[in-house]
Amino acid sequence: MSEFDPVKYKKMVKDHQDNDNPLGWFDSIYTDAKGHFENVFWADLEASPYLLKWLEANASTASTKAIAIGCGLGDDAEAMSNAGYEVTAFDISPEAIKLCKERYPKTKVNYLVEDLFNAPASWINNFDLVFECNTIQVLPGKYRIQARDSMVSFLKKDGHILVSCRSRLKGKQEDAIPLPLDKDEIDCFKDYALSEKSFLIYDDTQEPSVPHFFAVYQK
Ligand SMILES: C[S@@+](CC[C@H](N)C(=O)[O-])C[C@H]1O[C@@H](n2cnc3c(N)ncnc32)[C@H](O)[C@@H]1O
Repeated sequence: MSEFDPVKYKKMVKDHQDNDNPLGWFDSIYTDAKGHFENVFWADLEASPYLLKWLEANASTASTKAIAIGCGLGDDAEAMSNAGYEVTAFDISPEAIKLCKERYPKTKVNYLVEDLFNAPASWINNFDLVFECNTIQVLPGKYRIQARDSMVSFLKKDGHILVSCRSRLKGKQEDAIPLPLDKDEIDCFKDYALSEKSFLIYDDTQEPSVPHFFAVYQK
């Protein structure tokens, strides 16, 4: 694989978005990695420390179900499985799901190729825990709202949704790719009659660091 070129990447994503084909490029990020997981530039290859902390403080009980949205290479899904959840993890990229199964051959996670915008009806009101990490921010316009609608619909009564994303100040970086969420956008999760249980604003450890939100809501 050729070295990651951010300018070429952003142009490729913008071309897809401008042609109303905003989901058409994800698989290429995984196929271009040619089996070298470290070449998937957005993958940390470890679970989110904020997810791990939440799982430590919120023990699963028998048959609690979790779902990882746009699960990428599967590290967060595996963390939820290790914490005792019965986990479904899905991604629109067939290559991502293939890589998850290769990385975790003994996994208990049910890895599936599915589209958040055409998800199985059986997922509605079916999960105690929904984990969203960095999917909304790689989508444009109306797809961001539809993504939120869909992921919230998976929650059972009393279930939790954890939302992890890049953040930006309102009115700033409006053409950025990925487009981080501003506070008003992430606050829209509260419009679904969810209660906000915690809200963290933090900078990650990259150089230069990138501002993030990590929010927890309960139905
Ligand atoms: C920025 S990556 C984040 C991956 C992973 N959650 C992580 O944190 O490493 C966004 C992921 O969402 C997936 N994705 C985008 N649109 C999707 C959709 N409509 N349905 C399912 N997965 C989708 C992409 O294929 C990609 O794996």
